[in-house]
Amino acid sequence: MEKKYNVGVIGATGMVGQRFLTLLANHPWFHVAAVAASPRSAGKPYAEAVGKKWCMDVDIPENVKDMIVMDATGDVEKIAGMVDFVFCAVDMKKDEIKALEERYAKAECPVVSNNSAHRHTPDVPMVIPELNADHINIIPSQRKRLGTKRGFIAVKSNCSLQSYVPALYPLDAKFGVKDVLVCTYQAISGAGKTFETWPEMVDNVIPYIGGEEEKSELEPLKIWGKIEGDEIVPATSPKFTAQCLRVPVSNGHMGAVFVRFENKPSKEEILEVWKTFRGTAQELELPSAPKQFLNYFVENNMPQTKLNRMLEGGMAISIGRLREDTQYDYKFVCLSHNTLRGAAGGAVLLAELLCAKGYMD
Ligand SMILES: NC(=O)c1ccc[n+]([C@@H]2O[C@H](COP(=O)([O-])OP(=O)(O)OC[C@H]3O[C@@H](n4cnc5c(N)ncnc54)[C@H](OP(=O)(O)O)[C@@H]3O)[C@@H](O)[C@H]2O)c1
Repeated sequence: MEKKYNVGVIGATGMVGQRFLTLLANHPWFHVAAVAASPRSAGKPYAEAVGKKWCMDVDIPENVKDMIVMDATGDVEKIAGMVDFVFCAVDMKKDEIKALEERYAKAECPVVSNNSAHRHTPDVPMVIPELNADHINIIPSQRKRLGTKRGFIAVKSNCSLQSYVPALYPLDAKFGVKDVLVCTYQAISGAGKTFETWPEMVDNVIPYIGGEEEKSELEPLKIWGKIEGDEIVPATSPKFTAQCLRVPVSNGHMGAVFVRFENKPSKEEILEVWKTFRGTAQELELPSAPKQFLNYFVENNMPQTKLNRMLEGGMAISIGRLREDTQYDYKFVCLSHNTLRGAAGGAVLLAELLCAKGYMD
């Protein structure tokens, strides 16, 4: 692609915002032209505003260190005039985020969002680019509702489901997935935390993550949904039930999955589907797309969070321990990096898809 897009990062000082900046530092298509956060940070050089909150394992990228942080809510029109689109990951009340993202869209600035606020707005596509890339075709309907020419909102799904939904989606297309029971073992970075900022998590498991089980059960149905008229209508199957636990891990969400099929495949058939699966992101050769999206490990003690979360830059899914179950048909485990594939990386990949399909021009 010849064109470079100027982008803004809204919530740039947060955990996900920091990931965006590290991913965008050398991005072939995207150039960071604006960073914004709360009024607490606005007006300060980025390095000063983020201060001790910087928690990436690389230094603050040179291109943003001295950039003056703008006010995410006060400078909407100004930011919209400086960039082709924004990434948004802010910690605000749901209603406030909904309104803020609509303000950017209405200022003709597309929003690629990490926030959950708009995930169930019927004309907002919630996309995993390997699975339901076609949902971006709803954008003209959303633009009609918002009264915009360019502006729209597109979102990525919650991080918890980004290990098991990719593993199940291609199996459903071939064998029909009926029931899914999943337990997730989720990293503390998913709460925007580190062991320094959340010492209670050392040597501990907390069996509750507010709102996570509902998201883990409901959001897959929108990903499986179909465009009908001006809406994405969620699917009614597969049926999901989830328990989500916070575990003492810095990055990487693991899922333990039990699955029942309409037509029970053999183990070899399942492995073949995972091995050969390629989605739109691979077909379009998007810069952040993993070459091999679904990776099966034959060793009994794999995948492991610490060893495998960074597979293909943290954008690939690791799967293991596929075996028959006594109550369901099969069980297996799966792993994805929650702030890369599950957050900033997934949003960058979605933005690449939107650019490749002409929605950012
Ligand atoms: N962490 C994950 O793995 C993950 C995964 C998927 C989705 N998400 C979602 O992404 C969003 C951000 O998460 P996070 O973990 O990055 O949170 P975080 O580390 O707490 O960062 C929050 C960001 O929002 C900004 N902010 C707070 N109040 C604001 C206000 N009133 N106006 C404008 N900006 C404001 C903060 O700016 P200041 O620094 O100036 O306060 C900061 O840049 C959340 O909606 C979260 O649910 C997170």
